[in-house]
Amino acid sequence: FKIPTPKNEPGYTYAPGTKEREALKAELKRQSEIVIDIPVIINGEDVKTDTIKQVVMPHDHQHVLANYSQAGEKELRDAIEAAMAAKEAWANMPWEHRASIFLKAADLISGPYRDLINASTMLGQSKTAYQSEIDAAQELVDFLRYDVDCANQIYQIQPSSMKNIWNRTDYRPLDGFVLAISPFNFTSIGANLPSAPAIMGNVVVWKPATTALLSNYYFMRILEEAGLPKGVINFVPSRGSQVSEVVLTDPRMSGFHFTGSTSTFQTIWKTVGENIANYQSYPRLVGETGGKDFVFVHESAQVDKVVANLVRGAFEYQGQKCSAASRAYIPASLWEEVKAGLLKETAKLKVGDIQDFTNFMGAVIDKPAFDSITGYIDYAAASEEAEIIAGGTYDDSVGYFVQPTIIVTTNPNFKTMVEEIFGPVLTIYVYENDQLEETLELVDTASIYALTGAIFAQDREAIIHLERRLSGAAGNFYINDKPTGAMIDQQPFGGSRGSGTNDKAGSVFNMVRWTSPRVIKENF
Ligand code: SER
Repeated sequence: FKIPTPKNEPGYTYAPGTKEREALKAELKRQSEIVIDIPVIINGEDVKTDTIKQVVMPHDHQHVLANYSQAGEKELRDAIEAAMAAKEAWANMPWEHRASIFLKAADLISGPYRDLINASTMLGQSKTAYQSEIDAAQELVDFLRYDVDCANQIYQIQPSSMKNIWNRTDYRPLDGFVLAISPFNFTSIGANLPSAPAIMGNVVVWKPATTALLSNYYFMRILEEAGLPKGVINFVPSRGSQVSEVVLTDPRMSGFHFTGSTSTFQTIWKTVGENIANYQSYPRLVGETGGKDFVFVHESAQVDKVVANLVRGAFEYQGQKCSAASRAYIPASLWEEVKAGLLKETAKLKVGDIQDFTNFMGAVIDKPAFDSITGYIDYAAASEEAEIIAGGTYDDSVGYFVQPTIIVTTNPNFKTMVEEIFGPVLTIYVYENDQLEETLELVDTASIYALTGAIFAQDREAIIHLERRLSGAAGNFYINDKPTGAMIDQQPFGGSRGSGTNDKAGSVFNMVRWTSPRVIKENF
């Protein structure tokens, strides 16, 4: 059979006066007037626990959206057993039926549940309608459809045979179960981390970010409605440390699918290393971690393009994308013009409740994020090596609001220039035009990361040189574009160095990690 050929999901504009906007507004109203209970889901059963916690709106933190049950040790152990019990039947389900479940989930989100998933992402993660649409609707649907297509491509890769010998590859799932730990910042990544291994026939214990629970819970329900058998994906909101103790170290853990911080991934890798002799198989560790994504501007760049893309790259979704533009290198010859443009454009950005569709930014995700981001701003404000030229103010009395902030530093190794902030803070270093090579060395080596990066230049020789010189500095490299907004199938996403294992989400490079092939030789 032929898998339906995927195409990138078209987006809604939610323009004023459209019926799409009215429908989304009605759903936002409905969801903000109720408080739902979010259970742990093990073997398809809702489980309530004794530890109940709240999901609140980041932009209105006294407003409770849900009460959720936190899984403890017992529930985590039950989730592993449920996954293992579901394993054989799931692995043996005919491939087209496994595929069909995820394609149906994609169609449910593309159609009837689009508003549900968008509104829950907007309210729970403080995304604007546009940011939610490109994530929770378009990218999520793309992940599911392309993952199925990529799995199908992998299954076609077969060895050669000879007269009287037929060789074939049996793309088995991994030996045990897969643990997925997902982040708050993309509903699509939350959905993809458990789904990609499951599409390849694996069973999964999924710990979603507790700050993205509303949308992630609805996604889990949609999978159930699409026909996902009980126990294939078990949904366990819980504490990371307990998941490490109980699930990560279980001898049957054979794959780990992660997006989150570099330090967490390193701790997990160490824990796996310390326990390596206990596992039945060497666990596959797939992680997309931090970024300190650069924008390098060459003297031949078009200033209007630089300004527009810097603003969007740095401040969309409050800078909480691992791909966000967070350090920029501008040549002295263009600086005054770039600066004037940045000040003008940044002054237009409105920050506030995402239910007001004129706002460009919502709140940052929670109090620890707010404290960390504002700590960096305060550090820059107190430093003689830095000047804050835009923003620099914040207020968490109603929601965790941080104004879009631009710092200019005279020190290319300044703290905010090299550390990941994960907030709406852009740091700029102005380089002398005759210091091009020294500056490129800084772009390449000043941070531990290599996720995304962008260069701006019109001169073809300069583009060729920059592309070569910075070949190690980013897994996703953009020429005359912002470093955010990778599209599934168009720019497979991931980075190396401190940014992860570069297994390119939503591509065959990722999907191939979730199979342990068996080669069969048959003599006739
Ligand atoms: N894929 C997202 C982007 O490119 C980041 O995870 O912005």
